[in-house]
Amino acid sequence: SFLEMEVEQINKGKYEHYMQKEIHEQPESLTTTMRGRLKRGGSTKAKTVLLGGLKDHIKSIRRSRRIVFIGCGTSYNAALAARPIIEELSGVPVTMEIASDLVDRQGPIYREDTAVFVSQSGETADTLLALDYALENGALCVGITNTVGSAIARNTHCGIHINAGCEIGVASTKAYTSQIVVMAMLALAIGDDAISSQARREAIIDGLFDLPNKVREVLKLDQEMKELAKLLIAEQSLLVFGRGYNFATALEGALKVKEVSLMHSEGMLAGEMKHGPLALVDENLPIIVIATRDACFSKQQSVIQQLHARKGRLIVVCSKGDAAAVCPGGSSSCRVIEVPQVEDCLQPVVNIIPLQLLAYHLTVLRGYNVDQPRNLAKSVTTQ
Ligand code: G6P
Repeated sequence: SFLEMEVEQINKGKYEHYMQKEIHEQPESLTTTMRGRLKRGGSTKAKTVLLGGLKDHIKSIRRSRRIVFIGCGTSYNAALAARPIIEELSGVPVTMEIASDLVDRQGPIYREDTAVFVSQSGETADTLLALDYALENGALCVGITNTVGSAIARNTHCGIHINAGCEIGVASTKAYTSQIVVMAMLALAIGDDAISSQARREAIIDGLFDLPNKVREVLKLDQEMKELAKLLIAEQSLLVFGRGYNFATALEGALKVKEVSLMHSEGMLAGEMKHGPLALVDENLPIIVIATRDACFSKQQSVIQQLHARKGRLIVVCSKGDAAAVCPGGSSSCRVIEVPQVEDCLQPVVNIIPLQLLAYHLTVLRGYNVDQPRNLAKSVTTQ
């Protein structure tokens, strides 16, 4: 009806679509996610994290034999992005499970495990079935959801609310970046406060405080990503290579592109390039390589060189000022997207944003429904 249309326009504010609004609101949604949970300064000058929903269980999580992350789609990818920092700060091994696959295999889950269920809606059927399974097996179950009172929030032993605000676009954007931040805070909360990790912890907390500013900065790439979308509009396929913290960025970037723009796209682990994907490389297939500064940077440089040697059509996401360092043949040989550098474990939050923008613009330019892609639902409550 006319009234419904009016209400919708008011909800979207100055934006044309919910997905666009939700992408651009990330500086604010991230701020809300962190509100009241990070402390710095005060008399002790100590920097700490407070996660009220976990307070009675932190010690058990720290002592667990393993942490298992369980989710579907974007929520799984967010957990994958956070996995390295959880392992680094807690020393507890982390394994990853796609919810349906865990249930299909009836994979081993033990009483000594902490099972963390990540879900924007808190109602995804596959994730809920995996939760029932983990509860039956006696694991400590932690929920990370964006929906207060959802089934996952109610049925887990404890948890953390994402607090990203209501997300309407079927393709998850602001919930993804807030999920990563929640899990970075989880890493800080369960990590021990050994002197040896103090500087690292403080750098992450400072990085979290500054993250909304960095996200505001990277959102300025909007027009540049629209130009790139125009170049890619008629492509059949797009590959995305990442590794380390940004393997998740590759998977999530490709998921955004395929689910809304209906273009085939695959995220790939750059370390696996030589073991198959390299056969696909020619002068036509566009390839995005995530090569921002971190411990994997030089490995990514050599991946770029190898793709370049096979005349790959390269689009490189790199840290500000690194264009020359990532483009083997100068700027004519590849297109560069420069993003602000942040603490390595938070870099996935920044790096996904140009890819969200690319997916959005590709979809609008191709004339598809960006907020409700065909065949997909925001929350899949049936098996
Ligand atoms: C559906 C949505 C995805 C989402 C996935 C998991 O497939 O289309 O955007 O990532 O479910 O949803 P959840 O609510 O559990 O995060």
